[in-house]
Amino acid sequence: MINRHYLSMLSNKSVIRELSEYATARGAEIGYENVFDYSLGNPSVPAPPVFAEAALRFLREEDPVALHGYAPTTGIPSVKEKVAASLNRRFGMDYKACHIFPTAGAAGAIAHAVRAVTEPGEEVLVFAPFFPEYYPYINTTGAVLKIVDPDTEAFQINFEDLERKLTPSVGAVLINTPNNPSGAVYTEETLRRLAAVLEERSAAFGKRIFLISDEPYREIVFDGKKVPYTARYYDHTLTCYSFSKSLSIPGERIGYVAVSPACEHADDLVAVFGQISRGIGHNCPSSIVTLAMAESLEETSDLSVYETNMNLLYDTLKELGFTVTRPGGTFYIMPKALEEDAVAFCRKALKYDLILVPADSFCAPGYFRMAYCVETEKVRRSLEAIRRFVREEYGK
Ligand SMILES: Cc1ncc(COP(=O)(O)O)c(C=O)c1O
Repeated sequence: MINRHYLSMLSNKSVIRELSEYATARGAEIGYENVFDYSLGNPSVPAPPVFAEAALRFLREEDPVALHGYAPTTGIPSVKEKVAASLNRRFGMDYKACHIFPTAGAAGAIAHAVRAVTEPGEEVLVFAPFFPEYYPYINTTGAVLKIVDPDTEAFQINFEDLERKLTPSVGAVLINTPNNPSGAVYTEETLRRLAAVLEERSAAFGKRIFLISDEPYREIVFDGKKVPYTARYYDHTLTCYSFSKSLSIPGERIGYVAVSPACEHADDLVAVFGQISRGIGHNCPSSIVTLAMAESLEETSDLSVYETNMNLLYDTLKELGFTVTRPGGTFYIMPKALEEDAVAFCRKALKYDLILVPADSFCAPGYFRMAYCVETEKVRRSLEAIRRFVREEYGK
């Protein structure tokens, strides 16, 4: 018999994907250049040449039997060493190769992290608004996703609600900074306070509550700032990273989990990830991609376009009277819709070929998300469409 759980997920398809498919179909009718598609978080800038050059060099120069062979269960040692050294240099950490586990992107990283530090039935707290894929990431592991209400002022953490929901049933807390969809970057103060709450509750419950920090947008940060490195604030952190956005290679599926050296069970966790891989058929990312990633650790695509786009959109949205928090990073912005029903708002926007995503599925009803990983020239042209939409539909 077909599995009923997965079958039921078919009726719960991603709104983002559906809107993106609509945008593609509309593009076939009127030319994609005329569709202002703000639906999907697919990077719009090319990967830095170093990545492809490294992959080609490996293909040309390495022994094919060794290059294409199975990698060790917990990843290629030389790559793990390079990742650890880079993190240590950049963030003042003390990782060793044995703390690093290469994965298929952040999705693969979270799949391992959640399974490793929760038992079936335990809760994983997530903070609204959050990436809707967290539902399948968590709920297919046997753990249960539980939502902490948002801080709608600055999209930091609503500590009152966190403290209410942080019960002995919680095995892990999952954060995402810089945040999809709000663009908020957690401040040092937020991370310190979160760490203090987790320490206090872990001691009170006599069990360790782990922190899983999802950081695929770590390098996309604005105003010349740096994103505070979560693992520096709480020892029991599993850092889930991805090169999908920083190197613009989401199709290559490469990232890692870094286990903090001072984390409880630090010496066992990566080996445990290896066992989880056996069960979920992960078996390490592609060797060539993993090796090329290790040659590109200190590189990024030209990410400046996202800040340019953010400023264009933020200024226009503010001028038009939207309630919106200025993003500190990512390539997302999450304004409040001009009517209570953001789905109706986004549906009206389609008339102007503006593809906006209602944030209901991000657990932020009444808001909408724009993914501005789009050419700046198109963003500029879309501003007139946004103005017309707001004027004609809302008289502003
Ligand atoms: C917050 C967040 N976490 C995880 C992921 C998954 O990233 P990856 O492509 O590395 O699996 C995404 C992708 O958009 C994301 O936005």
